[in-house]
Parts: sequence; structure tokens; C-alpha cells
Amino acid sequence: MTAQPETSSPVPEHVSSGVAKLVVPSLIGALVALTLGIYGRLHHPTGVVVNIAGFTSAGYVKSWLATVATFFAVVQVGSALVMYGKVPRVPAPSWIGRLHQWSGRIAFLVAVPVAVNCLYGLGFQTYSTRVLIHSVLGCAFFGAFTVKMLILPKRGLPGWTLPVAGAVVFTVLTALWFTSAFWFFSTFGIHR
Ligand code: HEM
Repeated sequence: MTAQPETSSPVPEHVSSGVAKLVVPSLIGALVALTLGIYGRLHHPTGVVVNIAGFTSAGYVKSWLATVATFFAVVQVGSALVMYGKVPRVPAPSWIGRLHQWSGRIAFLVAVPVAVNCLYGLGFQTYSTRVLIHSVLGCAFFGAFTVKMLILPKRGLPGWTLPVAGAVVFTVLTALWFTSAFWFFSTFGIHR
């Protein structure tokens, strides 16, 4: 009797189990994005927008807050590159991890009131391609952020997971900024 060749999966077990750990966070992230989109579509926009004294309109408040959020997202990417040793001749200082954490927290905290204002006051709108893309990206941002936060404490994930999740959150936020604040400033001018 001849021995049967061992049948082995082409994907090593530790890799497939690592990827499997991404399934639940990704599903939850998709659910968050979808829920926001459905809420924004079903809820009747109130038109209620919160202005802050010293600004000419709520659009400016939102545009500046979105810009602050995007600035801290840039700090996130910069600090991540230093942490991963991707910036030649810049060794990671001891405080780089804290800079990364705090820039992420601030970016998120600043983005939340803007999104609440958008979702509650304006809703998920489709009246132009830009506005449709902005609405989709707004919901996708919170979905992608959820995925990143959920995979952050997980051990045994492939090494590319966190950088990819971070890059997706950053790209979505930057595109969000271009379809909102950048458009707003280019249309109405840069002031408060
Ligand atoms: C959560 C999902 C979101 C939805 C459904 C949404 C929807 C909208 C809509 C319909 C507009 C008006 C479109 C226009 O004429 O420009 C708008 C404007 C804007 N959004 Fe959002 N948005 C969302 C999230 C966000 C987030 C996360 C940010 C920034 C961090 C943001 C920043 C802005 C800014 C700066 C404007 C321009 C100011 C204004 O016209 O009020 N939005 N959004």
C-alpha cells in the first residue's frame, strides 16, 4: 500500500485564524456605517445647525472643525510612520506612542459634533455627486474607525492589519474633508 500524500491547506493555519479575527470587527464596522446611512436617509433633516459665537455661519464652524480633525489625522499618520521606523534618520522618541494616541482621540472627538450636525441637521443627501460622496464617506468614516478600534487590542493579527486599517480611516477622512470643508472654503472663502 502506498502512503497518501499529506493534504495541507495552501494558507498556514495561523494566517487564516488571524484573518478570521477580522471578520467580526469588519461586520460590526459595516453595520455602524449602514446604520448611520439608514438613519440619515430615514430621519427627516431638521435643518438645525449649531453655530458658535465668533463664526459667520455653522458651515464655517463645521469646516474649521473638520480641518482640525484632518490636521490631527495627518499627525496620526506621521507618528505611525515614525513608530514603524519608516522615516529615515528619525528614531522614534519615547513620547511618539502618546502623540499617536492623543492625535487620534482629538481627531475623533472633533469629528463627532460635526457628523452629528450633518446627520441630524442635513441627513444623508444625494442632490449632487459631491454631496452623495460626502454622505457615503461620512458614514464610512465611523465604520472604518470602529473596525480600527476593535482590532487594536487583538493579538495574533497579520502585521499589515493595523497599518491598513489606519490608512483607510485616514484616506476616508481626507476625502471627507475635500468633499466638504475644502469645497466650502473654495466656494465661500477662507475666514471664520
Ligand atoms: C455621518 C455621516 C455624514 C453625513 C450623512 C453628512 C452629510 C452632509 C451633508 C448632506 C452636507 C451638506 C452638503 C453640502 O451642501 O455641502 C454636509 C456638509 C458638511 N459636512 Fe457632513 N456628513 C457626514 C459626516 C461628516 C463628517 C464626519 C465631517 C467632518 C469630520 C463632515 C463635515 C462636513 C462639512 C465641513 C460640511 C460643509 C459645511 C456645511 O455645508 O454645513 N461631515 N454633510
